[in-house]
Amino acid sequence: MNRPFSGNPGEGQPQVDAGAGGGGAPRTLVAVVCSDQAVAARLAMLVGVGTASYTTIDEFAARLDGNPVVAILGPSFVDPIELTAAEQLLAARREVAAVMITDELSTDLLQRALRAGVKDVLQSPVEANDLLMAVERVGRTIGPVSGVMAPASPEGGEDGELGRVVMVFSTKGGSGKSVIASNLAVLLAQRSDRPVVLVDADLQFGDVAVMLKLTPQHTIVDAVSSLERLDATLMRDLLVEHSPEGLLVLPAPLEPAFADQIGASEMVRIVEMLRTFAGYVIIDTPAYFNDVVLGLIEVSDDVLLVAGMDIPNIKNVKIGLQTLRLLNTPMDKLRLILNRANSKVRLDASEVERTLGVKADALIPSDIVVPQAVNRGEPVVYSAPRSPVAKAFEDLADEFIPSQSKKRRK
Ligand SMILES: Nc1ncnc2c1ncn2[C@@H]1O[C@H](COP(=O)(O)OP(=O)(O)O)[C@@H](O)[C@H]1O
Ligand SMILES: [Mg+2]
Repeated sequence: MNRPFSGNPGEGQPQVDAGAGGGGAPRTLVAVVCSDQAVAARLAMLVGVGTASYTTIDEFAARLDGNPVVAILGPSFVDPIELTAAEQLLAARREVAAVMITDELSTDLLQRALRAGVKDVLQSPVEANDLLMAVERVGRTIGPVSGVMAPASPEGGEDGELGRVVMVFSTKGGSGKSVIASNLAVLLAQRSDRPVVLVDADLQFGDVAVMLKLTPQHTIVDAVSSLERLDATLMRDLLVEHSPEGLLVLPAPLEPAFADQIGASEMVRIVEMLRTFAGYVIIDTPAYFNDVVLGLIEVSDDVLLVAGMDIPNIKNVKIGLQTLRLLNTPMDKLRLILNRANSKVRLDASEVERTLGVKADALIPSDIVVPQAVNRGEPVVYSAPRSPVAKAFEDLADEFIPSQSKKRRK
């Protein structure tokens, strides 16, 4: 087998540093369990030379000595009998945490695995790096081996401070919500020292993953279907990371039909969970009011209302504003964003502000670099960082986290 194994520090070290940077933290061992010996060997190779592999849970259990171990469960664990054996072991041995590899990832399987106590499920073929990252994350969930289990707390949230929830909304499709949400999220992720999460709550037609050229392993559907077991660590594992800034994304369902499975209370619980460890939760939304949107408006600290610069847009946004007032949305949550603010159409910003009776917090110019960036799957703040539109996004991000160099008005 000449498949390269990459990303593993040090030869012959089937271990990960599970302590979050702590010098004296114990090293966590890794082992593979799969009844298919060839698959077990291949997975073990991915982790590193010398990684132990076992064909049954019993065989693995016999070798446990009380030290923390991350078990990589192979595809044979789709078998209910094998999964039950794993469940019993995981319940009995607190020093073991498990990641499962599956040939076909379905919501049903994910649910069964999570119920059995497995912390993450990856679909094969799995890259060495993804596997090592999952092993490391899962390894961090193993609490002190003796004594009471510490609650899992992913990086950043130890101070218990809840992150700020910022929703991007408009009552008009195509007004630029997704462009604004994704660029703002990328900038905040660059600037924030806590994680920043972008949630695509446009459940039917969400395109955040496409705009950021991400191939999600999990979506909101998985978060909802594992809601009963969802803790911050598990939640973190369902997010896909955008690089280089490390923005975490919870993508919309891959098929519009799944949108029905997701209700307002579920969406709100997910956001509440995310804000326990994220400094910012940015939410992209569909272009209409439904119960999910209403629930999200309620939990949001800021609602960025996006308006385009043409009459139908302004009319719709005006109706949207009236609806928000009827719903008793605190008006101090609302911030008006005028998109394509320099388009060569007759309306100018002050006219729009007058019509809407709200002052604009941000003006985003119209620029050909935006659709170019969208089509390349790149945020415009990366593809054209010096463009006026990128500068406008920087200014918008300054409202939340000032970049060092600038002093804010306000
Ligand atoms: N400031 C802008 N300048 C030029 N084109 C823009 C701008 N904002 C958005 N667009 C274009 O409009 C289209 C719709 O934007 P999008 O963010 O998907 O809208 P929404 O999410 O509100 O439906 C995108 O393809 C994008 O290229
Ligand atoms: Mg959109």
